[in-house]
Parts: sequence; C-alpha cells; structure tokens
Amino acid sequence: MCSPDYFKKIFRTVRDWPKPGINFRDITTLFHDPVAFSRAIDVFAEESDKRPFDIVAAVDARGFTIGGALAYRLRKPFVLVRKKGKLPFKTISESYQLEYGTAAVEIHVDACKPGDRVLIVDDLIATGGTLLAAAKLFQQLGGEVVGVAALIDLVELGGSKKLRDAGLNVFTLCEFT
Ligand code: PRP
Ligand code: HPA
Repeated sequence: MCSPDYFKKIFRTVRDWPKPGINFRDITTLFHDPVAFSRAIDVFAEESDKRPFDIVAAVDARGFTIGGALAYRLRKPFVLVRKKGKLPFKTISESYQLEYGTAAVEIHVDACKPGDRVLIVDDLIATGGTLLAAAKLFQQLGGEVVGVAALIDLVELGGSKKLRDAGLNVFTLCEFT
C-alpha cells in the first residue's frame, strides 16, 4: 500500500493557473509514471474490496482516466457520467452549482438497475458538487452508491465533508490543503 505522501509527490502543482492565486493540482504527471498510475489503480482496487460493488462509474472527463482503468482491472461494468448533452440515448440529469452559474451531469436511464451497487470515481474533490450530483443520478435509478473515490481531496474546499454529510463513503489517495 502506498502512502499519501508517495502520491502527493507525483502530482504537479501549477502556480497561478487558471488564474492568479490558484495552485492547480495537475494529475497528468501521474499518467506519465506507469508505476505510480498502476499503484493508484491497485490502491483503489484494494480499497474497493472492503465494500463489494457491481458497477464502476466515472465522471466526465478526467474521472474517465481512473474509472476506465479500474473497471478493466476489476472486470466490472463501466458507466460514463457525462456533462449535459453528450449522451445519445435517453438520460436523467442532475444540476449542481458552479462558482458562477450551474452545470449538469447525466447518465443513461439503463446505466444501472434498482439494487445495483455503484462505486463512483473522479480525479479530484473540490466543492464536492460534481460527485454529489453523480451519486444522486444513480440513487434516482434505485442504485446503491457504496462509495465515491478520487485521487485528490482539496480538503479546505469542504467537498469531502459535504459528501460524507450526505451519507456517502469517501475514499481519496491524498489531500492537499
Ligand atoms: C473537475 C474535476 C472534478 C470536479 C471537481 O472537473 O475533474 O470532476 O471538477 O469539482 P467539485 O468537487 O467542485 O465538483 P471539470 O468540471 O473541471 O471537468 P474536466 O474533468 O472535464 O476537466
Ligand atoms: N486541480 C484540478 N482540478 C481542479 C482543481 C485543481 O486544483 N481545483 C478545481 N478543480
């Protein structure tokens, strides 16, 4: 099992991007390092053993990089949670708040069946709005969200607390303050 510090050293921090004062945590450096990337997926796979689930879901777009690898590793069905207007079949939609305005995520109506246990993954938790909206989608279809997992928790933005307060199990590889 790798420590949070192992992963924290892998992610690059880009100062003052996308605007002055923001320290942007860049996950692309994880993918440049195949050992670290496979270790990250292995940690998610080990963690997911604690709460059995049927489906891996991941959030558009950076979440797909993690969710696809995890679903392949575990031989589980994989569901795409997409930004509004991207899915071709019949969808359900959930809006969430952005700093300015709102956004929405969607899944296909047949993305899960009542009683299916779903793990939702993303790259990073900031305010938690995206993962909370994603969780609500599966709950609308009668799915049980057994957990949400991300590489990084930007803990001071309060998202992981918001998700736990909503009754979700939250797992992250590391935290940045
Ligand atoms: C980022 C990130 C998470 C979300 C986290 O996605 O990848 O999905 O924001 O923020 P939150 O916890 O405040 O909801 P973004 O919408 O920038 O999309 P991208 O993955 O397509 O870059
Ligand atoms: N890194 C990547 N995505 C983000 C960040 C960040 O620091 N903050 C909000 N979304």
